Amino acid sequence: MTKKTYIVGNWKMYCSPSEASLLVNRLKKEVGRVPADVEVVLCPPAVDLTTVRQELSEHDKFSLGVQNAYPMDEGAFTGEVSVAMVADLVHFVLCGHSERRHTFHERDGLIAQKVAATRRHGLTPILCVGETRHERESGHAKQVVADQLETGLSLLTPEEMGDVIIAYEPVWAIGSGESAKPGDAREMFEYIRKSLGALHGSALANAVPLLYGGSVNASNAASYLKLQDCQGLLVGGASTNYKSFASIIEKAAA
Ligand code: PGA
Repeated sequence: MTKKTYIVGNWKMYCSPSEASLLVNRLKKEVGRVPADVEVVLCPPAVDLTTVRQELSEHDKFSLGVQNAYPMDEGAFTGEVSVAMVADLVHFVLCGHSERRHTFHERDGLIAQKVAATRRHGLTPILCVGETRHERESGHAKQVVADQLETGLSLLTPEEMGDVIIAYEPVWAIGSGESAKPGDAREMFEYIRKSLGALHGSALANAVPLLYGGSVNASNAASYLKLQDCQGLLVGGASTNYKSFASIIEKAAA
């Protein structure tokens, strides 16, 4: 079976529903045929999901994901949107994005609950892991990533582990214009496989798709996609520019 390549667009906190509708329509026109082994996932802000879902109703070029969701199904959690509430709209949930970890102080324990709730509702979690600049410079990058992986996946059953995606996104590379060197990303991918193997067995570890994220653009996308262990990209800034995102998708389809 050919492995899939995932191109995930994280729109962050950009686009009102009308802007989202415009962007998705431009993308539909700009993006050519998407081969069956490439899955393009759009992650707009939660308030745009219904609009984008409607825009995509006749199209199977793109899947939908949400940038964050709360693990409890419902309750007194002012301002939150639960995994249960978006389960009819999306197939993917970003869990533990670095902006959630660092700006909103999400801890690994809560991220693990989000990953587990995502699987419980039959959706695919994209667990984001990555070290800060200080952690890299002090030689702790691998340990940090290993800890995020171990706790983040700790509430899943072995069956649930079969449908998880990991995105390696060094914090210092996100939104900075300073992407990781492909060689460094490759080294971290190998380490992630090794850590997953130690935790969940090598068959599972080899099957988990690994994505790179952090200042990906149309010029550097191919240098990650050609890495043996890389099965896709998590794209932030460049995903809200329809021409750039379409060109990144083309690289994956090439
Ligand atoms: P960036 O963001 O591509 O703008 O660096 C990546 C992300 O948010 O996942």
